[in-house]
Amino acid sequence: MKLLVTRPIPDQATARLRAEPGVETTVLEESAAMDRAVLLDGAAGADVILALLTERMDGELFDLSPNLRMVANMAVGFDNVDIRAASARGIWVTNTPGVLDGATADLAMALLLAAARRLPEAERFLRAGRYRRWGPMLLTGQEVHGRTLGILGMGRIGEAVARRARLGFGMEILYWDERGRPDLEQELGVRRTDLDTLLGAADFVSIHLPLTGDTAGLIDAARLARMKPSAVLVNTARGPIVDEAALAAALRSGAIWAAGLDVFEREPEVHPDLLELDNAVLLPHIASASIPTRLAMAQLAVDNVLALHRGEDPPTPVVRGTR
Ligand code: GLV
Repeated sequence: MKLLVTRPIPDQATARLRAEPGVETTVLEESAAMDRAVLLDGAAGADVILALLTERMDGELFDLSPNLRMVANMAVGFDNVDIRAASARGIWVTNTPGVLDGATADLAMALLLAAARRLPEAERFLRAGRYRRWGPMLLTGQEVHGRTLGILGMGRIGEAVARRARLGFGMEILYWDERGRPDLEQELGVRRTDLDTLLGAADFVSIHLPLTGDTAGLIDAARLARMKPSAVLVNTARGPIVDEAALAAALRSGAIWAAGLDVFEREPEVHPDLLELDNAVLLPHIASASIPTRLAMAQLAVDNVLALHRGEDPPTPVVRGTR
């Protein structure tokens, strides 16, 4: 089996691939796959590609890779993979669900707190030598504990955020999801609402939806306008779910209080207006970036590759292939 790994991944995961008899592993250099021609060239002879969310896996690449049996994505999100094109060709697609829920939920809470309590702004203030004395109104922000959190998408990560917010911060939890979660309604007292009700009632809105045709542009100017002027929006899911220009305008005008963003519409670009706003907390897509979690994601991607190689069932398929 010829395996292409599109960028270096943690060593322990690569070592398992190299130790597997019959697997010939090529790891592209860190920035090589950014050059589409290099990626297509590397993919051309591959039986399996272990890909990162930075690489577009589409029909063009599949057609140039006649032996391709699997794309093992090292991410839970798989909007970088054209699922329809893969299915049509019988190519397996796998992702890394579950192992990153805790790290991602931790970071969503960190962004929520940082935006509400103005942490990056306060640190910039201090480092600029502007902290001369304590002040009763100095850098005051929004209360977190006991407030209402609206969760868009109550899957595994949304649930992990709900647990932290409810049990750790005593927050009231509303959620919007096509699937009800009576288990969590019972256990945590979370309440399901329609989107507009949630946006109007929540002090914090945190996004945990996949990026699909239905969710792209979901949080647009009209939906931002439904939020409270004191509200904080947190996005650790995918950037295109939020209209970034509309968000920047809402933050600038005070239509909402603040935003904490780990993801952007056109990564690694960030809308220039956001970069100028103190009430936007901006991170470079690091929600799952704890050392143990990134290793677990890599190991799960490797589990999928090795299962295919050994004729076993890949553990976390998105598309079941036929090749
Ligand atoms: C990261 O964004 C992931 O989808 O795993």
